Amino acid sequence: MTPPLRGDRPIVTVTRRLPDQVERLLVDEFDTRLNHDDHAFTAAELRAALGSSDAVLCTLTDRVTGDVLSVEPLRSRILANFGVGVNHIDLATARARGLVVTNTPGVLTECAADLTMALILMLLRRLGEGERELREGRWTGWRPTHLLGGRVSGQTLGIIGFGRIGQAVARRASRGFGMRVLAYSPSAPRPETLAECGAEPRGSVEEVLREAGIVSLHCPLTADTHYLIDATRLGLMRPDAVLINTARGGIVDEAALVAALRAGTIAGAGLDVYDGEPAVRPDLLSLENVVLLPHLGSATRETRLAMGMRALTNLQAFFGGAPPADRVA
Ligand code: GLV
Repeated sequence: MTPPLRGDRPIVTVTRRLPDQVERLLVDEFDTRLNHDDHAFTAAELRAALGSSDAVLCTLTDRVTGDVLSVEPLRSRILANFGVGVNHIDLATARARGLVVTNTPGVLTECAADLTMALILMLLRRLGEGERELREGRWTGWRPTHLLGGRVSGQTLGIIGFGRIGQAVARRASRGFGMRVLAYSPSAPRPETLAECGAEPRGSVEEVLREAGIVSLHCPLTADTHYLIDATRLGLMRPDAVLINTARGGIVDEAALVAALRAGTIAGAGLDVYDGEPAVRPDLLSLENVVLLPHLGSATRETRLAMGMRALTNLQAFFGGAPPADRVA
């Protein structure tokens, strides 16, 4: 069969570098515009991409606002997001402009849950502090009172947002670390799911905050969850409790978090995501009782490849005339 002429193929703009294999497959199949130097697109570049390509394969660093989506004429018909969270896309405007939006659910669940456990371990066992001490040549040797942390096994873990990732964290915590797991989700989790994950339901965010020694956030960032964890809710946490956020920075009021950490009304925080990232508040950087990671939740070779393949599959379905499996708008 003669391959279609280049001009007949849909134009796909890819906003960030993707794993090589994914980029090769995209180039084979579409008239693909790659981002060779991997810079984050500006609003003007996003508008240009939407005006000149049939599809944009975007990521969470692209702020696809109503203004960006107002470009005239709009050529794109699909935004295939590389990632599960779509809070960076104005879905209502996308819908209104007839754009299909897809994401890549499922394929990053296990790695995101693994990273959540890593943050819990790092924070409670003071591993970041220990590594800094050793690398800086400050380690003077073993001693019974050196860098004592808190016990991880047997803790009470409160999970806010009990979707795929929240459930995967619950399984690890209950089965691997013998933790008591409390779970809250606005749509009440099914009893079978709770039992399989070793979790007990709680009826509100507040109940979880009052009881848990570790609070871990796994809800999407929406209008309802923006600053869900504010000064009032932080005030409900136990003074020996820690907060873990591997979901989205905007779920936590970071100014209130810093105040709580400084005042000692909570014991620590482990963050992989930030409100306004990649900028990180300088006052967070100066605290020892926090562990700060650069948004690494899904950052494994296996997962990033699977995310790319999923975005590719969504584009193939769309341009093949079939409904893409992961349509969110
Ligand atoms: C990563 O944070 C994602 O939303 O996929």
